[in-house]
Amino acid sequence: MEFNRSEFLFETEVPEGELIISRTDLKGRITYANDLFAQISGYSVAELVGKPHSIVRHPDMPKRVFKQMWEKLKNGQKWEGVIKNMRKDTGYYWVHAIVSGMYKDDKLVEYKSIRTPITKAQKIEFQKKYDQMRNIDKENIRTVLYSN
Ligand SMILES: Cc1cc2nc3c(=O)[nH]c(=O)nc-3n(C[C@H](O)[C@H](O)[C@H](O)COP(=O)(O)O)c2cc1C
Repeated sequence: MEFNRSEFLFETEVPEGELIISRTDLKGRITYANDLFAQISGYSVAELVGKPHSIVRHPDMPKRVFKQMWEKLKNGQKWEGVIKNMRKDTGYYWVHAIVSGMYKDDKLVEYKSIRTPITKAQKIEFQKKYDQMRNIDKENIRTVLYSN
């Protein structure tokens, strides 16, 4: 994939008071996406369902964040954190996500994620934090500077 397209620089703002919701099977393949998820990610619901959730993975996200997420989920715990996602047009959007298991008759059947917007200050903080993590882990090195 090419990352030098100009859309890469455009942010989509997640609206206040609405939730971006998705569910996945136990392997992380999307089984449900609400309309807001489709709208914000730039995909249609039909394009999202059946795809791995990494369809919206942004290269600025350190690998270890998702490693920790999956470790928690596999231990039956919920994961909560900040994610930068990539849209279909390579633009991006930031969310706070709560990811947890869904149970049927005490058996883990799916995972769900509920996402809400974060503040500009949090975006600046997490961009810096994730840039540092990728540098430490020797992942793709790209540093983003925010102007205020
Ligand atoms: C319910 C659920 C929601 C997820 N939401 C996201 C997400 O919004 N963005 C993302 O990059 N990965 C998300 N993931 C993690 C992905 O499954 C995947 O681990 C991650 O994109 C890293 O890709 P990789 O495992 O192929 O390296 C989610 C996983 C689950 C179970």
